[in-house]
Amino acid sequence: MGSVNRTRRYAIGNWKMNTEFGDAVILAEGIKYGLESIAGVEAVLCPPFVWLYPMVDILKNAPKNLQLGAQNMHWLEKGAYTGEISPLMLKGLVQYVILGHSERRYYFNESDELVNDKVLAALASGMTPVLCVGEKAKRKEDDKNDPVIDQLVGGLKEVSKDQMKKIIIAYEPVWAIGTGDAATGEYAGNVARKIRNKIVQLYGEEIAHNVPILYGGSVTGKNTGEFMDECELDGVLVGGASLKIDEFLEICKQAGEYR
Ligand code: PGA
Repeated sequence: MGSVNRTRRYAIGNWKMNTEFGDAVILAEGIKYGLESIAGVEAVLCPPFVWLYPMVDILKNAPKNLQLGAQNMHWLEKGAYTGEISPLMLKGLVQYVILGHSERRYYFNESDELVNDKVLAALASGMTPVLCVGEKAKRKEDDKNDPVIDQLVGGLKEVSKDQMKKIIIAYEPVWAIGTGDAATGEYAGNVARKIRNKIVQLYGEEIAHNVPILYGGSVTGKNTGEFMDECELDGVLVGGASLKIDEFLEICKQAGEYR
């Protein structure tokens, strides 16, 4: 297989259900100022839904490589779905939306079919889906099932070749999320290669080589470089460490450095 086109590198911060308003403002402003001297990376902040409107204002004069994302969304435009947020509400507010995060899959029973509906809805509304896939437990050599590839294929059902050019895949092993037990660069790079090979099968070499594949799970300022050294990885999806200004900026710096 030819080499991967690493035109863009990403550091996406998933704040999850964290921050009160004051914390969110301090965090966003700190990252905004810090990013002024960091190039080569697209940094994406994914705060809770309620902070998105004020964030647009706070980030008005932010560097171009600082963007907003949502952590989830419903797949329908509107209707009687108490507590849900639709693509129409997010459109114009965010450029990215995280879909199929393992916390959605396992705490809220989101199936591959439902994640696929959301992926298609995000694309239809002009947002970039960040499709998360990951196995629950470390795999053994002789394991026949491959949940990562199953989730990938399920999440991409009916996604066209053109649409595939607008998708980001995040490989997030569940055992590494919030545990401090990050995968090694080599392990994550190998899974990313498998993901890319599957995308080659489904969409052809050219499209596959341009799909950004990120790693997520206990990413820190210290280990980001290890993931970026892997030619199959185009960035990181960060949870806990994205809540600390200096740590997240260090991650952005590492992700943006030419390798
Ligand atoms: P973590 O979370 O960095 O806290 O492990 C990653 C994620 O859930 O995206």
